[in-house]
Amino acid sequence: MESAKLTLDPAFEVGPVERRLFGSFVEHMGRCVYTGVFEPGHETADGDGLRRDVIELAREMGVTAVRYPGGNFVSNYEWEDGVGPAPERPTRLDLAWRQIETNAFGLGEFMTWLGEVGAEPVMAVNLGTRGVREARDLLEYANYPGGTRWSDLRIKHGVREPYGIKVWCLGNEMDGPWQIGGKTAVEYGRLAFETAKAMRRVDPSIELVACGSSNMRMPTFGSWEATVLEHCYDQVDYISAHAYYDAVAGDRASYLASAVEMEQHIQGVIATADHVGAKLGSRKRLKISFDEWNVWSQSLFGGEDSLDWAHAPRIIEEEYDVAGAAVVGSLLITLLNHADRVGIACQAQLANVIAPIRTEPGGPAWRQTIFHPFALTAANARGRVLRVQATAPAMPTERYGEVPVLAAAATLDEGELSVFAVNRGGTPLPVAIDLRGLPRRSGISHVTVAGDDPAARNTERDPRRVEPRAVQGATIDGDRLNVVLPPISFNVVKAS
Ligand code: AHR
Repeated sequence: MESAKLTLDPAFEVGPVERRLFGSFVEHMGRCVYTGVFEPGHETADGDGLRRDVIELAREMGVTAVRYPGGNFVSNYEWEDGVGPAPERPTRLDLAWRQIETNAFGLGEFMTWLGEVGAEPVMAVNLGTRGVREARDLLEYANYPGGTRWSDLRIKHGVREPYGIKVWCLGNEMDGPWQIGGKTAVEYGRLAFETAKAMRRVDPSIELVACGSSNMRMPTFGSWEATVLEHCYDQVDYISAHAYYDAVAGDRASYLASAVEMEQHIQGVIATADHVGAKLGSRKRLKISFDEWNVWSQSLFGGEDSLDWAHAPRIIEEEYDVAGAAVVGSLLITLLNHADRVGIACQAQLANVIAPIRTEPGGPAWRQTIFHPFALTAANARGRVLRVQATAPAMPTERYGEVPVLAAAATLDEGELSVFAVNRGGTPLPVAIDLRGLPRRSGISHVTVAGDDPAARNTERDPRRVEPRAVQGATIDGDRLNVVLPPISFNVVKAS
């Protein structure tokens, strides 16, 4: 049986575990908001119409930051529609997803929900159909203490203390031809600069995210980031990255190796941002906000024009299998291994729409397979990320050539070591973990998300078919920790 080896040394680290890496995304899309997080009248709904069952699951997942309100939705959104007395709010056409938007859920409801989840907002402003003025107005409404038009309106709406929202996204996917009010790189770079300037005057403590490319297959990937940042580098803190990894667009091995593409993506964006920083003679280095990532069979989506006008329609309610959980685990591992340069990451989305949490209107909520690697990583990745030196057998893939069957990351927190590992291969993988330099360990645990059938899923009728389970058999031999990773699995091995 082929085996793999990991070497860990506490002297070699990537950086601290950034808690914002465990972010999620709530967009006014399909049933993410309506009948997802918000369903007045549902048996678990509280007085604000928030589904407590979904709040509990989001807490269990360990979600730390939530991007809102879009996505493509934000590019034709008027934030003022979603604040104030609910019965007075207008119903609008949302052009992004051809939805009837009632505005029953808006900023106030989102912030209340977020408080219950215990997470931080990552707020996006509309730079598609709107601009500098509406963005600074929203910031004044949200963060200014009082005594001005917009801050007093917030107080009139019953929110005396400012929300103090720190992270703001300057639009969404502005390079996309599908984006309402899309821009060229020069148009967007200028607008991002001017919007950032105005917003920083209102609240200098905010952190700003400029839009990078919508995905790395865009023909302008790289040049978009370079041009945009030449205009707004000094005004922003992050450049965004978005990526969805498709289960059906390639062979299964390529799908399981999707993290190779995320690795290239991160390296490409960092290189481009640093190139602009060097050209500008700036000592500042930007971080990446990977604020949309997930697995999504996007090639099966018929596109926005295939949708009919509806309120809370069922759009891209993907069902995930064991293989999807392994891919999500390997993407989380890649994000951790770049904790020095990726400062924010949001899995897209939280409920129903390509989501770890599924709900039925008037019915239950349950955990999809991809819920588990997220929850296990958010719970166990603490302290500092260690550099992992790995040797592993390779497997052939159509898209990426030979790829190691093993993906791994490790964190160390006050003597407690957590190793996150994905076996992409179809056979059990023995792994020897060399713990040199780490104090002797005796307590070991190994939890896996795996299944006899890589296509196994959790459904409303069988919501617990795929769950984490403890694996016996890990051994310690001197400095060496030995484990066997089941075929196509995500694993957390802990030693203390
Ligand atoms: O998450 C679904 C959509 O994917 C988002 O609205 C958009 O930003 C991306 O293209």
